[in-house]
Amino acid sequence: MIVLGIESSCDDTAAGIVEDGMERASIVASQDDVHGPYGGVVPELAARNHVVHVVPVVRRALDAAGIRLEDIDGVAATVGPGLIGCLLVGLSTAKAIAHARNLPFVGVNHIEGHLLSIELDEALERPFLGLVVSGGHSALYWAGEDGTYGLLGSTRDDAAGEAYDKAAKLLGLGYPGGREIEKLAQDGDPTAFSFPRPRVRGAELDLSFSGLKTALRLTVERNPDARPADVAASFQRAVIDTLVRATRRAVAETGARTVVVTGGVSANQALRAAMERATEEEGATLRVPALRRCTDNGVMIAYAGWRRLARGESDPLSLNARAQWALGPRMVVGG
Ligand code: KG4
Ligand code: ZN
Repeated sequence: MIVLGIESSCDDTAAGIVEDGMERASIVASQDDVHGPYGGVVPELAARNHVVHVVPVVRRALDAAGIRLEDIDGVAATVGPGLIGCLLVGLSTAKAIAHARNLPFVGVNHIEGHLLSIELDEALERPFLGLVVSGGHSALYWAGEDGTYGLLGSTRDDAAGEAYDKAAKLLGLGYPGGREIEKLAQDGDPTAFSFPRPRVRGAELDLSFSGLKTALRLTVERNPDARPADVAASFQRAVIDTLVRATRRAVAETGARTVVVTGGVSANQALRAAMERATEEEGATLRVPALRRCTDNGVMIAYAGWRRLARGESDPLSLNARAQWALGPRMVVGG
């Protein structure tokens, strides 16, 4: 079964093709140049650019797979969560193709796409604990054996990637900021400045990054001669410590043996190394997707869609985009 997947929830227009659970093609049209000057995604510009890119990206994916539209057996698209004007572009395109070719259609949750992207390369055993850290999301999920999900905790304000992007803007670095900060931090001293490790009282699995952004601004103002590399390294250490602490606690409370870390920020090597150490100490195994699968892509959507289509499931073409779409109900564990 060959499935086409379209992703347009944020600033990347992407299409992927999966055949029987295996990747056949992956095309991503980045809008980094469009949003770079603003230091963050401008929703209206993103939506307009998706309109420009979506059909060429689907064409390129078909070409890369060496197939034609006639060879597709089903169509998947990201339904949410994401920017509504952006989601509508990919979703409408997928529905139009499904309608014109009389193909089954499924709507995919973007977060599930991220969580399952590892399975494109290797088997992933359930249950697992999943940390999704990207520009739009920072949350901990429990993935049950029966395929359902529970939300263990999420950010109360900024996402981790958003914190990176805002920090990069403040330090005068390029966009997206995660990679830039990581590069700069490589020859910095992470102990040079002390940043807060924010926690949410009474909800230890929830996260908060907005205080960190303020602390960074004050540090830069008060230390005009500080080495940017030291500031970046200290900031990055605080983000990583915060993510590791919450994940460690979630492992202890759930007894998870497998921990998945995914989303754009999971491309960060320092985060990977710290998570590797922490999960090992907790007696769990860390699983991270291949680097190119960390950031948004269409194959992860095609894959999550293929799983449902292969089971004979589909969604009606009346399915609408959803800016907010929880992957599962809030779940309380431990004490
Ligand atoms: O998953 P993604 O492509 O889009 C969303 O669903 O949001 O994630 C993009 C985010 C951006 O905020 C970017 O700065 C961050 O991931 N990112 C990184 C790294 N590479 C990308 N953050 C830290 N270190 C990196 N190496
Ligand atoms: Zn994403």
